[in-house]
Amino acid sequence: MSVPPPDLTGRQVVLGVTGSIAAYKAALLVRLLKKAGAEVRVLMTPDAERFVSPLTLGTLSENEVLTEIFPENEDGSWTKHVTLGQWADLFVVAPATAQTIAKLAHGFCDSMLTATALSARCPLLVCPAMDRDMYRHAATQDNLDRLREIGYAVMPAEHGELASGLVGQGRMPEPEAILERIAERVDGKNPPAAGRASEPGAPPLTGTEVLVTAGPTREPIDPVRVLTNPSTGTMGYALAEAAAQRGASVTLVTGPTALDPPTGMEVVQVETAAEMHEAVQARRETADYVFMAAAVADYTPADPSSSKRKKADTDAPFVLHLRRTPDILETLGTHKRPGQVLVGFALETDNALDNARRKLDHKNLDWIAVNNLRDEGAGFGPTNRITLLGHDGTVEELPLMPKADVADALLNRVLAAQSEETS
Ligand code: CTP
Repeated sequence: MSVPPPDLTGRQVVLGVTGSIAAYKAALLVRLLKKAGAEVRVLMTPDAERFVSPLTLGTLSENEVLTEIFPENEDGSWTKHVTLGQWADLFVVAPATAQTIAKLAHGFCDSMLTATALSARCPLLVCPAMDRDMYRHAATQDNLDRLREIGYAVMPAEHGELASGLVGQGRMPEPEAILERIAERVDGKNPPAAGRASEPGAPPLTGTEVLVTAGPTREPIDPVRVLTNPSTGTMGYALAEAAAQRGASVTLVTGPTALDPPTGMEVVQVETAAEMHEAVQARRETADYVFMAAAVADYTPADPSSSKRKKADTDAPFVLHLRRTPDILETLGTHKRPGQVLVGFALETDNALDNARRKLDHKNLDWIAVNNLRDEGAGFGPTNRITLLGHDGTVEELPLMPKADVADALLNRVLAAQSEETS
């Protein structure tokens, strides 16, 4: 679903740019902000000037770019970090290096950027960009957790090719995605996962790998027809985003949906149950948590035609032979490694709890989230009402909530049970 560009008319944004190769994208971000109607003041760390010139960002923002707290031609303006901090509706650090993140997390203020961040009274948004191993490092992840704890929003770095030649998580999100987050922050309409991730107390998933499946699968009958189901992918996408917000390294394996691919994670697009099976099994060994929210087709046409099937001239019933698809979750359950947490979903219409418990046992799951299509608000829409069944016999009913809230509640429950087990 493409969304119209946000209207930021009259909004005042401070953009902090630090010394990462992704600093060139800051120029695009300034342009997008200006186009959306925002007033932009750019602050750069001295290292950022090695990657992009203050002249470029000054010209695009139509304002002088500031770097030093104590400028050489002293004009009494050394308190600008305070005035700018008060002026801003939002302070965005993009790209944010590991060094600046560490400084922000610990209250260092040795540059115009860090001093202004410390003075700011507005919401802050940090968009990390660095090499994969620096991003994964426990020190960086701890610093990001600290920022979340003190109320900063953090956009997880994206997965992809990095300047070092490595492939992994560490890329700065694209300027368009940052712009969307900025619009949500200044409107006070944080997407639920982001807002809550900043709330103190949400258990983090730092340093873990989370695998989520979402959406329907599509099984071809012939080149123009498929067998599928009405799954929208909302539940799985909400879970993937909530896990990424808590610092997990997330892979989302998704069937075809109308949703925008989320940023800050690896997204693997698949069509059929067989493709989903392959993508999931390739990642099963390293995943610490697997959430199988996808509505996987149980059957696929046994003999899909390579040409369009033509209708018959008679009224005789049309017979389509189907064969079973692999049960992805059952395979995961069979190969489950110690400590790995498997969470299934079950959408039922009758005997919901009994059916779900059978699946929980049969597929060797830790949890199953069951919902009944006959319950109002549960199923394929934007909300859900689930009952969580645990392998230890736990039965927990959650109220009717938007799927993003269900995702958060589910993560809280799963993580709480795990910390009880290990304590
Ligand atoms: N699942 C799977 N692979 C399949 C079918 C289902 O991994 N081929 C997963 C789903 O993603 C879900 C769980 O198994 O997490 C339960 O799916 P559901 O369709 O409710 O149950 P089934 O096992 O397919 O049984 P039935 O359709 O008979 O209810």
